[in-house]
Order: sequence, then C-alpha cells, then structure tokens
Amino acid sequence: MSLENKNNKPVGDSQVTVNLGSIPYGRQNITEEDIQAVTETLKSDFLTQGPKIAEFEESFSNYVGSKYAVAVSNGTAALHLCAMALNVQEGDKVITTPITFAASANCVRYCGGEVVFADIDPETYLLDINKVRELLEASPKGTFKGIIPVDFAGRAVDLEAYRNLANEYGLWIIEDSCHAPGGYFMDSKANKQHCGNGNFADLAIFSFHPVKHIACGEGGMITTNNEKLYEKLLQLRTHGIVKNEKKYKNTPAFANGSTVRSGTAVRSSAVETYPGWYMEMQDLGYNYRLTDFQAALGSSQLKRADEGLAKRRKIAATYQIAFKGKNFIKGQSGVIEGHAYHLYVLEVENRLGLYNYLREHNIFAQIHYIPCHLMPYYREFGWKEGDMPNAENYYKHCISLPMYPTLTDDEQKYVIRKIKNFLVR
Ligand SMILES: Cc1ncc(COP(=O)(O)O)c(C=O)c1O
Repeated sequence: MSLENKNNKPVGDSQVTVNLGSIPYGRQNITEEDIQAVTETLKSDFLTQGPKIAEFEESFSNYVGSKYAVAVSNGTAALHLCAMALNVQEGDKVITTPITFAASANCVRYCGGEVVFADIDPETYLLDINKVRELLEASPKGTFKGIIPVDFAGRAVDLEAYRNLANEYGLWIIEDSCHAPGGYFMDSKANKQHCGNGNFADLAIFSFHPVKHIACGEGGMITTNNEKLYEKLLQLRTHGIVKNEKKYKNTPAFANGSTVRSGTAVRSSAVETYPGWYMEMQDLGYNYRLTDFQAALGSSQLKRADEGLAKRRKIAATYQIAFKGKNFIKGQSGVIEGHAYHLYVLEVENRLGLYNYLREHNIFAQIHYIPCHLMPYYREFGWKEGDMPNAENYYKHCISLPMYPTLTDDEQKYVIRKIKNFLVR
C-alpha cells in the first residue's frame, strides 16, 4: 500500500481500526479486550464509582511504585485537588515551567495562588533547577510555597535534586507526570526512581487523555506515599464528604434527629451510634470522580503499558538514527535512559514550513507547547516576551513527530522520508 495515497489504515489484527486517514502525532490504542472490559462493567451494577476504581487504583500504584493512588476525572482535576490538599491559598507563590500544558500552572490559580514561571534547560526542555534556585535565593525564605516540575515529553525530572532544594526552603512538590507513566530517572545511588513513586514528590499526577500512554477517554490519577494527603484527596474528590464515624464532628444525637440545642448538639445516652445514612460534608470539595467503566478501560490499558512503552522507545531510537548528525536539525531528543516518550520533539529552523509540508502529506505533527507565560491570560499578570528566553527560543523551533505504539514501521519511514525531503530542499 502506498502511504502517500492511503485513506484506510488498519492498526493491527486484534485492534479496532481507527480510521483517521492520516498520521497524527499521538493516538489511542483500543483493543477488543479493552472493549470487553468496558462492556462488562456497563452490564454490572456500577456505572459511577464501584469496584473497578479500587482495582485501577491498586494496579496503578503498583505500576508506579507508590503507596496510594486516587483516580479522578482528568489530569486537570488531579492538579486542582493536589493544590487544594496542599492548602494553596490566595497569593501563595508556586514555581513551574512555561513549557507545559496550561493546566500545570492553572491549578495554582484555581486556589488563588500566584504562578511564577522559571525558564527551561535548553538541553532537556525541563524546568531548569538552577533558575528555580536563583528565584528562591533572590527572595526571603517563605516567599514560595511549592514547585510543580513537569516530566515534559516523558523525560523524568531529577526529583532527588528538587527534593533537596525544596527541603532547604520548606516547599512541597507536585510532579506533573502526565507524559511519563513508566518513565524514571537514576538517583545518586544509581537506583531507578519511577515517575509518580512518591519517594521525592509529595504528590504526582497523571492524565488518561487519549493521546497519553493510557487512555480512559478522560481520566486522571494522583499518587502519593503520604497517608494524610491521600485521605484528604479522597474527601475532596467527592464534595468534601466524610463517611467515617471516628471523624464526625456532629454528635450521634444530632445525626439521629434527636437533641439539638442552638448549634451545640447534646449527646444523649440513648443514641450513641450514627445511623446508616449519615455522612458529613466537612470541606468544600468537588465531584471529580472517575466512572467505573472508565476505570475498567484504564486497568485493561495498563496491562499493555510496558509493551506500549517499549514500542515508543523503539520509535524514538529509529528517529534518533535517522536524524543523527544531520546539521539541519538544531536539536533533538536522543535516546535517553528512562524517557517515556509521550512526545518525540525535533527543533528545526523552518518550523512553520515543515509543519505545513507535513500536513500536505497527511502527517499531523503538533507543537508542544506555546509557552504558558505568553498566553494572554498570563500576560495579564505582567509576563512578557523576553522573560523566558530558552522557552521562547524552543517554541520557535519545536515540532512533535508522530509517536504512538501503533505507528507502523512503514508509516515511520514515510514520516522520516518526508522530513528529510523537506529539510534538504
Ligand atoms: C503536562 C500536562 N499536565 C496536565 C494535563 C491535563 O490533563 P487532562 O487533559 O487529563 O485534564 C495535560 C494534558 O494534556 C498535560 O499534558
């Protein structure tokens, strides 16, 4: 089949054909097993939270190596709950990277906090820890409350270094690991530290949007090793409701509808237990629940996560060989230990030309990301061109190539050929 003329694209024997008639930068991989898992759940008694949620949480925390996991409706909700659980308040300053999806920063604003961007390292494209240190050193201790580093493109942040820095200044860390389930960095003792394992960050978050490693349609997960934060997150995920006798603030007498005296309930010896219906809303939470059928899809997808990761790394290695030593390419992500390759980014001189040329040939590369600090919303806080030179320079040149487990060898060869054709013209 000539890829130049293709319209229908089978994506594998056991896989359902997703006929986009084109090669996107990312794509979900839904198998018959996934469909069966969802269908079974749809036929069960549970549509919203049921047994599949706990199953997914357990298998996901095992996968990343954390003690706890909380499934939520999407990655943005996960970030919002983390900011709430860490008690971000009006005016609290939090540092993050400008090269990320806006949600990494927005969660601070949801709680009234102030987002302070620090520039990226032009080699790794990750938040530059030296720039973070400069910011911290330039202000009195206590000025900043936390840091949100992002495992951008799937490259794991060195969280050990961030933990040391955060400890010096009494800061919390939320690891935005939406791009990196299965990714890891090597710590100072040469141990693998998997993204979201909770050894260094207080909380980590993941997204299960279709272009990510694991697709739930919409979905997210928070992982942590901190029991208190875990319990807080469970409560905030469902309206701030507590259903635990030991934690109730109202008395059993009140709960049973017995004695209430102007706000101070009087404990009656006749009524010592809480009735079955009783629960308390103790905080202002949200409905950020994942549904049971989404969790069934997530669990089914998770079984193939390592397989998908291996394929992503193979695709990255092929790109790396194809573009090696080509001086027309300004920079590229090579094969990096522990990289989860949500994205494969090239930096090229004529980015707009390449983007349009690829589209003409049915290849839908994408740009990640327009720097957050230059979004009109954040410009209103005073951020402007020139504030983050590395991020801004990166944005002028970056382009994310097709990267997903069902990308075939022929398709990848076609993509590489088209890029080379364009760049030597
Ligand atoms: C780095 C990053 N953080 C947060 C999010 C938000 O996740 P969701 O789309 O599931 O809300 C995304 C999603 O694209 C992301 O890429």
